[in-house]
Order: sequence, then C-alpha cells, then structure tokens
Amino acid sequence: MKPTVILPAYPEEIADWWWAQTIQKWPELSEEKILNLIRKEIVVQSDRFNKSRTFDPQAYGSRDLSLLTYGNFFFPRTWKVMTLALSEAYSFREWKKPNKAPIRILDIGSGSGASGLGALYLLRKLNIENSISLEAWDYSGKSLSIQKNIHRACYDLWNDSQIKTQRLDLRNNIPQQKKQRFDLILLGYSMNEILQNSELSERVEWMKQILGMLSTTGLILIVDPAEKEVCNQLHETSAYLSTNERDVFIHSPYLNGALCPFFSEKTNYYSHEVRKISSSSRIEKINNPLSLETHEVKFGLTMLSKYPTQTFLANTDFCRLVSPVRKKKGTLSFIGIAADGLEYMYELQRRSLSADETKILSKLERGDILHIKNGVKGKDPKRIRISKFEDISYQFAPRWEKLQISTNALLDSVT
Ligand SMILES: C[S@@+](CC[C@H](N)C(=O)[O-])C[C@H]1O[C@@H](n2cnc3c(N)ncnc32)[C@H](O)[C@@H]1O
Repeated sequence: MKPTVILPAYPEEIADWWWAQTIQKWPELSEEKILNLIRKEIVVQSDRFNKSRTFDPQAYGSRDLSLLTYGNFFFPRTWKVMTLALSEAYSFREWKKPNKAPIRILDIGSGSGASGLGALYLLRKLNIENSISLEAWDYSGKSLSIQKNIHRACYDLWNDSQIKTQRLDLRNNIPQQKKQRFDLILLGYSMNEILQNSELSERVEWMKQILGMLSTTGLILIVDPAEKEVCNQLHETSAYLSTNERDVFIHSPYLNGALCPFFSEKTNYYSHEVRKISSSSRIEKINNPLSLETHEVKFGLTMLSKYPTQTFLANTDFCRLVSPVRKKKGTLSFIGIAADGLEYMYELQRRSLSADETKILSKLERGDILHIKNGVKGKDPKRIRISKFEDISYQFAPRWEKLQISTNALLDSVT
C-alpha cells in the first residue's frame, strides 16, 4: 500500500527566516535566554488557544514576542494542516484549478500567512503553473506585514504570485466583492476565533457571505482546533448550510456529502483528524522542557463548495477512518464512517496478517480514506469483517516526504 500523495516538507528557508528575525530582535541575549522567552510565551498562547479562549486584536498579533513565538512554533503546524487539507482538495475532492487564468486565493484570518503561503507552496510543488494571487485578511496589521515580508524574502518558493493584504475586523465586516470570485477560500484556525461565542444563525449568515465570494468551481477549506465544542459548531454550521441552502455541498471529511454523525448525538466522540508530522531540531530544542506534542497535529476539517460532491456507492466499501487502529489479542480493528454516512467497526483477524501487514495497518491515520473489498457484515450489522490484507486499499492517504538529514543537522543533534 503506497501513499496516494507525497507532501512536501515545511521549507527550511521559512524556518530560518523566522529564526533570523528572532535573534535580530534581541541581539544582546544568548540563545538559551531567547529560547526561554519563547517557551514562556508558548505556554501563554497554548493556554489561550485551549483554556481561556479569549481573543482580541492584542491576543498574539501585536507583540513582537507573540508574533515570533507563533512563527517559530505554531506557524509550521498550521502550515502543515492546511497542506493536508489542500492536498485532499486537489487529489481527492476534485477541486479544479482554473485552466490558464490566475488562481485566486482568499485567506481569512490569515495572521502571518501559514495557510495562504502554505497553499502557494503546495500548488507550486504540484507543478501548477498558473499565476496565483493571494488576498489575506486579518485585524492584526503587524501579522499582515510579516506575511508580506515572508512572501518577498522567500519568493523562489512561489514564483509568479502576488499578495494583497487588508486589515479588517472580520466578525461584522466582510468586504463586498463586486465581480471577483475566489477559487480557494482558506480559514486556517481562524473561524473559531472570528465567530467566538456566536449562535448558529450568526455563523450561517456569516458563512453565506463567504460562500457568496466563491467561484462555482471553488472550494472553501476550513480547519479549526480539535476541540469538541469547536468541531461540533463547525459541523453543525456546514450541515445547516448543505441541508437548507441550494447548491452548498460538503466535500469533506466524509463521503457523498454526508453530515458529521457526531455533533447531533450525545456522544463523547467528535469529528477531527489526527495526522503524524515531523518536527525540526529547533522545534524540539524549544519544546524540550515543555514536552508538548510535536509529532502529530489534530484538527477539525470541513470543505464546502457550490459544485456537487463525487458519488460513491452508498454502502460500506468506502470509508474514512475516524479512530486509531486498535490491536487486541486476536483482532485488529478501526472505526470508519462509510459512504452511507454511518459508523462501522472494521475488523481483521490477526492470524490472517503477516507481521509486515500488521505493521502497515497500524500506521493507518485518522483521515485516511480506504476502499474495502469483500467486507462481510456479521450478526452485528455495525461490524464489518475483512478477510485479508489485500482487501484494503488506499483512496486517499497523504504522507510527508522523508528529508535527507543534512550533515549539519546530524552534527547539531550530537553536540
Ligand atoms: C490562530 S490564528 C491563525 C492564523 C493563520 N490563519 C494560521 O493558519 O496560522 C487566528 C487568526 O485570526 C485572526 N482573527 C481573530 N479574530 C479576528 C477578527 N474578528 N477579525 C480579523 N481577524 C481575526 C487573528 O488575528 C489571527 O491572526
């Protein structure tokens, strides 16, 4: 089973750019002192994202330490999450770029640009040659000017692209577009902040304005923190739109435009992805005393468009994996949401698997889309038996390119 897409690693040029800005800011401080400043600020920002959830223009977009901490530590994570989402849009959800015309991207709540710039980079890595215009909106002027600086400083990563930024409070003020429509609209960890403490009706009206700016072949990619309430609100909003509005289709995370089965039921589960990522030696150094999770990203995901979703036979042959793979004594199992929109437990007998096959299946990730041949329902119709490894194949399984570790990095790690 080979990955269906190989994703480009986060560019070292950008990691180095952020670090250069950081040491320039405090030339009088030793590296260890700078690392300690960043570590303290990471704790403040993590608490703000996960605990206090208070956001305002001063939250992390106005102070240099906040911006540089975000850039060195959080920026690569949101970059990778949007790379995962866009790779799904392009390689699995039938997002079609304009033929020859420029690709128009809007990044809403762009901050310093992890999502928008990540999208430019991936499109170039996919050998897409159209010129690209990126429009970035945020209420933090400082973040927007950083984004322009990165775009200029690392231009080789996204040749033939232009960037335009606008400083706006987006909760109540979506600028009306006269004629222009966007091919991709990105909301990278920003919707939950912009629409904090909002009612469903407010979120629906806000999203209708965003949909109004989307081209007929365009796609809106939304990723948000993997928290139960945030993810449930995200899926409740997209379910409402696809059920009540004409020509609004949910492309992801499930198949056939299915609604998330979790938000409307009393369950501890909620819809989110968990994907492995690699982490640089600098991030590991920063993280060393903090021991935060740096080898995986968790995020809520949805994609909306005005074009219909791809059709799969509405049975259990195709599914999106939504649980870790569980290895028990006799069985290996996972939970999937199938193309009929329902949840199933898929199960293999371990005696039918070689050690290598068990290893490969253990590395399946939440968010992978699988094709299951010859699955058999048992007495319990929610349990699907799979008789052999060869009956499973990937439909969408992105994995990161493996980087050659440079001699310098190796030396760094032993000194
Ligand atoms: C977690 S950051 C994500 C930034 C960026 N999209 C990324 O992927 O790294 C959330 C962003 O939303 C912006 N934001 C929050 N509320 C906003 C509002 N009412 N108007 C404009 N921007 C807002 C913040 O300034 C911040 O840049």
